[in-house]
Amino acid sequence: MTQRTHRPDGIIVALDGPAGSGKSSTAKALAARLGYRHLDSGAFYRAITHAALQAEIPVERWDSLTPAELDALEVHGAADGAGYHMTVAGRDVGEAIRSERVNAHVSRMAAVPSVREWLMDALREAGARGGLVADGRDIGTVVFPDAELKAYLVCAPEERARRRLLERGEPDVAPEALRAEAARLQARDEIDSTRAVAPLTQAADAVLVDTTGMEFGEQVERLARLALERAAGG
Ligand code: CDP
Repeated sequence: MTQRTHRPDGIIVALDGPAGSGKSSTAKALAARLGYRHLDSGAFYRAITHAALQAEIPVERWDSLTPAELDALEVHGAADGAGYHMTVAGRDVGEAIRSERVNAHVSRMAAVPSVREWLMDALREAGARGGLVADGRDIGTVVFPDAELKAYLVCAPEERARRRLLERGEPDVAPEALRAEAARLQARDEIDSTRAVAPLTQAADAVLVDTTGMEFGEQVERLARLALERAAGG
């Protein structure tokens, strides 16, 4: 494949969208398909939230977290072959950052301007050589506004809730459980879309992909075709 991008390792693909729209799993599979690295930016916000909860920093104090206090939380995303591996104080937190407690608090932490600023260099560094599929809320609008391909993934709320429960291995997809999960996802979307800094929004030049009723493989292939076209200068 002829690379037409100025980045040595390939283009940057930015996938944004609301909670449970399938961004992270799609981004991971897309990165594997393209031979690129995957950056799950949500994992960084989740790791900071987990670390702050563990350190028992009261939620009311989060708005005034300083860079020194954030450094002291010892949150790191170390590059491994396929993506980034999150640690807090040297310990793997891959599972802990997916807890209900973190789910319930992460949007609060992600709305703090000093936290977003503190993370920005690490996120941008991941894209310094290109060859990256990054997913989140503000990847195409703020982190990599010059990404060669931007996609905005959406999905019907019930379907997003159903995917989340199945992903967690919960056999109970009863209507009440679905409604409760859909409400939790929507509460997070509300905070993410209305915050003052880097709110969730579709970039003007992003391709809108509605994944409702779409097979997973189909989503990945559709994006892979677009990415290969863009990488070839299309
Ligand atoms: O996977 P899921 O859609 O549940 O969320 P995530 O991508 O893990 O992100 C968790 C939270 O981090 C989001 O609800 C946002 O509050 C925040 N986030 C953000 O503000 N900006 C990003 N680029 C990525 C995540």
